[in-house]
Amino acid sequence: MIAVTSTTADTFRPALHYAARNTWLNDPNGLIHHEGVYHLYYQTNPLDSVWGNMSWGHATSTDLVTWTEHPVAIACDAEEDIFSGSIVFDRHNTSGFGTGSTAPLVAVYTSAYKTASARPGIQAQSLAYSLDGGYTWTKHPSNPVLNRGSADFRDPKVFRYESDAGSCWVMVAVEAQDFEVVFYKSHDLKDWELLSSFGPANATGGVWECPDLFPLPVDGDPENLKWVLTVNLNPGGPNDGSAGQYFVGDFDGTTFTSATTVTNGLQDPDRLGEYQWLDWGRDYYAAVSFSDVPDGRRLMIGWMNNWQYANKIPTSPWRSPMSLVREVSLRSTDGSWRLVQQAAANLAPYAGQTPSFNLGAVEISHGQHVLDGAAGSVQRIELALTPGTAEEFGLVVRGDGAQGTRIGIRPTEGLLVVDRRESGQTDFHESFASIDTAPIQATDGSYELALCVDRCSVEVFAQGGQVTLTELIFPAATSTEVSLYAIGGTAILNSLSVTQFA
Ligand code: FRU
Repeated sequence: MIAVTSTTADTFRPALHYAARNTWLNDPNGLIHHEGVYHLYYQTNPLDSVWGNMSWGHATSTDLVTWTEHPVAIACDAEEDIFSGSIVFDRHNTSGFGTGSTAPLVAVYTSAYKTASARPGIQAQSLAYSLDGGYTWTKHPSNPVLNRGSADFRDPKVFRYESDAGSCWVMVAVEAQDFEVVFYKSHDLKDWELLSSFGPANATGGVWECPDLFPLPVDGDPENLKWVLTVNLNPGGPNDGSAGQYFVGDFDGTTFTSATTVTNGLQDPDRLGEYQWLDWGRDYYAAVSFSDVPDGRRLMIGWMNNWQYANKIPTSPWRSPMSLVREVSLRSTDGSWRLVQQAAANLAPYAGQTPSFNLGAVEISHGQHVLDGAAGSVQRIELALTPGTAEEFGLVVRGDGAQGTRIGIRPTEGLLVVDRRESGQTDFHESFASIDTAPIQATDGSYELALCVDRCSVEVFAQGGQVTLTELIFPAATSTEVSLYAIGGTAILNSLSVTQFA
């Protein structure tokens, strides 16, 4: 048995988020709820803690908090890397991969063909199937099933489209360099027919990757459905590097029509702040949704990293956590629509021995004020704030007097701010130390923040989840202080509650 010593890796290993045991990880892939189990596949390098040898890693969970890692599900070989994709449960065996009474799970992934293959440099879509509930996979012998001769055609997300006219499989994928989402349909997952394309539109400051398309009820009304098209892009996010944008509109089985496009064609760089973002932070990328979640819930998870510095974050031998799983819903606002996001899992069973900390209304004066009894490194913090005379106010987490991550509001600028310049280790990459912002509006004069703090991350859900901002941080294990702060005046804390985990 190997003795476990306290290493950097242990210090940052998340308590409430998934990270692989000792390998690299990027995009979530093949997300599906099947036979009572959530399956999270993901881009992994089985041999190293940097990107390469792309294969699908695999983990499962029944509560979306504790994950069990399994052997690599679909491995690269001499001819292809296994890039991102999705999994469907082919319950009627349309693909013919099923046997007897066993219907297959079918993975649709991008074959990134290597020099040694017959298609060097091509990206095309391929299939693999599982007859044991997702634990072992067989590649389809006639791969690829969809090849347009493109070097940047990838990240297929497949779902079952049902309408009065019947049902079929629909694939959304990208032509990454063209800022285009392409839509295909199939009856057997093997023969695909091009339906339409969408884009360029809104943010085009980087390649488009990992799209998704799903319907959501508006304000919970099942009679009023809108379709949400999500597209990740890299770089070109609102605070630099990787990020995901979304469009709301209609899908008629052939074409997606966006009702929220701000700029058609190539991007106007000054308008980034007007586009709709899945998350405004630096570290929420390649987010896609789970298939077949019970009760019609739409759950998404993102890779909590940014291609700008992904290979450099100080967490070897594992590298990169996933975000929390988020439930997304759609709310109408001022004649438009907005995704609202909440942490999906019930974290209550994971609350630690340390009692929760609560504070009622107090005035925050200029300066930084440590909250005795609130310290911790894995916490859920909920607070409500009302502006006074301060130009900025909020909370510092994972602090120790010298370091800390500032999460605050600048009311006159209408901004949520996360400042990680003094958050701990930042020097592993020149672009990591940053102060990042998102537009935010007060509700009845106040701001509501729910924060999930873990050993190497902060996820901010502001205004009931209408604005989210996710960031990695690498503080010392001993930096656990929580403080209130105000700059240049006062503010009012209406309430604060801290739940401690771990
Ligand atoms: C996004 C991405 C995908 C690709 C995968 C390769 O992060 O670049 O487009 O399929 O990563 O690992």
